Amino acid sequence: MSETEQQLKHLREQVENAIERYLPSAQTRPGKLHEAMRYSMSAGGKRLRPVLLICAADLFRNHVDALPAAVAIECLHTYTLIHDDLPCVDNSNLRRGIPTCHCRFDEATALLAGDALLTFSFELLSHAYTENPVIANKLVKELSSASGSQQLIGGQMEDIDGEDKTLSPEDLNFIHLNKTAALISAALVMGGCIGNADDNQLIVLRNIGRCMGLAFQIIDDILDVISDAETMGKDTQQDVENGKNTYVSLHGLDVSRKTARELTDEAIGLARKLPGNSSLLIELIEQMGVRIN
Ligand code: IPE
Ligand code: IPE
Ligand code: MG
Ligand code: MG
Ligand code: MG
Repeated sequence: MSETEQQLKHLREQVENAIERYLPSAQTRPGKLHEAMRYSMSAGGKRLRPVLLICAADLFRNHVDALPAAVAIECLHTYTLIHDDLPCVDNSNLRRGIPTCHCRFDEATALLAGDALLTFSFELLSHAYTENPVIANKLVKELSSASGSQQLIGGQMEDIDGEDKTLSPEDLNFIHLNKTAALISAALVMGGCIGNADDNQLIVLRNIGRCMGLAFQIIDDILDVISDAETMGKDTQQDVENGKNTYVSLHGLDVSRKTARELTDEAIGLARKLPGNSSLLIELIEQMGVRIN
């Protein structure tokens, strides 16, 4: 393992430990709810968004603690997965290598565990950054707008609404940029806010997220077609079954692969413009560009 790979692994471990520390214990009443929240949160996953956030913060010197914000964005992301998997949305049975929250518990509990994780992410931000109110405000602003009706949830709405229709490439880009890239941009921008990045640096961070996030969802679409549940930890071949518009269904595998590679290279090119040592960030962008799960 290279030094940067080792550093990324260490960051993931830090995130795992912080999740364990920050979330209410499974004994906290109502135990079933907290158990369900912890079940989905501790199931693993790539931890891309929290690690990205920390990598972005680490580009800047003397920043405040990025870990609470890292956990907050992972809580928010996990809520979107729990709700995305529900029978009324994508109806998925496997997530992060284990049964989905509604399969392990029940639909109502999964719905509520998602609700609670969404709220907890903002509770965590507001509590952890009280001594830095300007940063706290920027973090809440960024995370709430990225995950709201005009970005992440808006993308989810059009994804669902577009089932069994053939959308235009523009409409598909709208879906992918909002349901996925918005939160990936938010991770980078939140890291920048923690590091006191200036406006131009925040624009670069946002654009890296846009390229990286679009590539990320294109690769997710590709892997749904070419991979299997064992490798992915989630059910595959689901997009066709659900009548989804994906990069593969609209553009084919070759164009999808080429576009994902170009976007990954564009993100890396932008990362080179950032201050500090961006080698970790670049390694992470590249890892995601060649990922198999
Ligand atoms: C899955 O996100 C949802 C998409 C945006 C494609 P990830 O692929 O980051 O899922 P985890 O966190 O590793 O489980
Ligand atoms: C999900 O996209 C994006 C969000 C959860 C916001 P997908 O529906 O493609 O994600 P997977 O394939 O179920 O992980
Ligand atoms: Mg979905
Ligand atoms: Mg899904
Ligand atoms: Mg998918």
